[in-house]
Order: sequence, then C-alpha cells, then structure tokens
Amino acid sequence: MTHRVYCFNAGPAALPLPVLEEVQAELLDYNGTGMSVMELSHRGPDYSGIHSEAQVLFRELLGLNDDWKVLFLSGGSSTQFFALPYNILEKNKTADYIVTGSWSKKAVKEAKQFGAVHIAHDAADADGKYYYIPGQSRLNLNPDAAYLHFTSNNTIAGTQFRTFPQAPPGVFLAADMCSDLLWRKFDPEPFGIFYASAQKNLGPSGVTVVAVRKEFLQRCRDDVPAMVSYRIHADNDSLYNTPPTFAVYIAGKVLKWLESIGGLDEMERRNLEKAGMLYRTIDAEPEFWRTRVRRDSRSVMNVVWRIRDDEALEKQFVSEAAAAGLVGLKGHRSVGGIRASIYNAVPLEGVQALVSFMDQFIQKHG
Ligand SMILES: Cc1ncc(COP(=O)(O)O)c(C=O)c1O
Repeated sequence: MTHRVYCFNAGPAALPLPVLEEVQAELLDYNGTGMSVMELSHRGPDYSGIHSEAQVLFRELLGLNDDWKVLFLSGGSSTQFFALPYNILEKNKTADYIVTGSWSKKAVKEAKQFGAVHIAHDAADADGKYYYIPGQSRLNLNPDAAYLHFTSNNTIAGTQFRTFPQAPPGVFLAADMCSDLLWRKFDPEPFGIFYASAQKNLGPSGVTVVAVRKEFLQRCRDDVPAMVSYRIHADNDSLYNTPPTFAVYIAGKVLKWLESIGGLDEMERRNLEKAGMLYRTIDAEPEFWRTRVRRDSRSVMNVVWRIRDDEALEKQFVSEAAAAGLVGLKGHRSVGGIRASIYNAVPLEGVQALVSFMDQFIQKHG
C-alpha cells in the first residue's frame, strides 16, 4: 500500500489524489502515443490538445470571456512582479500598490525599477508584521495610476482580501493571486490582469497562469525582452518558447477535477467548511492557540497561529503532528508559529484529523 499523509505545505502543496492517480496511470503511455507527456513535442497534436483544454477549462471555471487571454508562462509569480511593471509602467507613470505582506513588498521593490510606485496603503504593524487587510476607506488611491496592484491572499501572514479593493474609474486592478486563485469565483470585470504560479491551488510548480485583458495588452510596451512581453506570449498562444508542458498537463487535470466536483461554487463551500472548522477550534481556546490576525482578515487558505507564544511547544506540535501523518505545519520562518495551508486539494478529512490532533495536544499540554 502506498503511504500517504495529509499535506499542509504552503507550496508546493497538496494535489488531488485522483489527479495523481491518473498521472501515474498515463505516465508511460499518454493517449496511445507510447510516450510520456514529458516526451511529447510542444508543437504536436497531443500536447496542443492538453494546452487548449486547460485554457478552456480555466476560462469556464472563472467565467472569462473573449476579452481575456490566458497565458501559461514560466518563472513563477516572482517573474510577474517585474514583468507587469516592465510591460505597463512607463517612466512618467505611477502605479498604486497595496502592501499587505512580504510578497506585496517584493512586488513593490521590483516595480520601482520601472517607474514610480505610490503606496495606497501599507498594513505593516509597529513590529513590521501584517495582521489585517485594509478596508476601502483606508486606501489612498491615485486616480491616474497605471494600475492598482494587490496581493489577494497573504500566504505568510494568513490574511486575505475577502472583498477586493475598488480602483478609481479607468484604473484596472492587477492582482497577485498566487495562493488563492480558484478558491472561489470572482467578478473579473475590474481586473486588467491577475496571475498565479500553480503550486498552491492549480498544480505543480513550473507553470504560472497569467490572465490578461486584451484592453490591458494594448497598453503594453513593445520594447521589452520577448520572454517578459505579454503581447508576444499572447500572440503566440504561450508557445513562443517551450512551455512547461508537464506542469500544464497536471494543471489541466486539476481544473478537470475542479469541474467534476461541481466547479468553484462547490469548491468555495468546501473551503469555507474547512477553514470554519479550524478557526472554531482555535477560537475555543484563545489562551492556548493564539492568533493576532484580525478576524475580518482571516485567510481561508493559510491559517496562521501560535501556541502560547512558546517556541518549544510549537516545535513539539509540529513534530508530533508529522509523526501522526499531518505534515507541513511549521509557520513561515519570518513569523514563526504554526501555519496550516488548507488549499483546494486538502480534503475535509485532513482538517478533521488536524483538529482532533489539536484536541489531544491541548489535553496533554494545555
Ligand atoms: C502570494 C505569493 N506571491 C508570490 C509568490 C512567489 O511565487 P513563486 O515562488 O512561484 O515565484 C508566493 C510564493 O509562495 C506567494 O505566496
């Protein structure tokens, strides 16, 4: 019997078991080709089918119409931190950024190389950490901004925009959705672009999906290196160079799995159930399980907490949990404590196992 654990890794993260099983079954002979998908030409008919099916499924799940281009790129979300301003931000323009965590800070640092950045809000606390998502009234927005960028889910801090910010008229939203894309449906209308590397909700690391509005593409510069040019990738249907074919193949299977369970409405319902169960457990013993994340800002994807601010006890929790088959619960090194990443592919049973482990742990140590 294959040994499997519940994986709470922040990314690369859990994948749906049926997807892994299908990949295993097809590994040596994909669709009668006698080859693995890794061996197929990216210009041949079998890979073309995989590529376009994944695009179609992505569009269907998110309700993206013909105004949008869906790109499969490499380089991770970190590449988008500079590709976006490189394409869009001319030297005389300013872009608005909302800073809600370390990833937004990195995005700002990259953007500053290509133009002026205006910080619409910086949610850093006195200790330099991030515990909340600002409401609309706290944003200082520039009506002439090239775009308004935000990080929809803060993987490290455990905060999430449950309501997206509103940009001034004529200004498109641009979002790093690396760690929560596809957790639910959303209205794409206010967006010019959103992007996510796959290794949280969409598949393995290696492919980054970039959805870009055609109107936004028209604002892009031509004089940028080909590999970061949204126009070149869009004109070549993400086949300007060799795409990360195997990662796109698995992402396509994850999208099909999402469709098979009932789409993003059902995914949202499951995600809220999982997160609700975990937060209720934390809230029941606030002296033992401590979280400074503001209640209205809590992430449905990454649940972050501490155990009595006691590092030794946290270490024990993480190692005892791992021994019980609950893996990947150590908090990010910059904030410490515990982090349970409960992305789409983490089943409800995994969260049930985690909360019953927490009940046992508190009985021993509480
Ligand atoms: C919110 C967010 N943005 C960006 C990144 C960077 O993604 P990548 O490592 O694929 O470049 C991460 C990685 O965890 C992330 O969580």
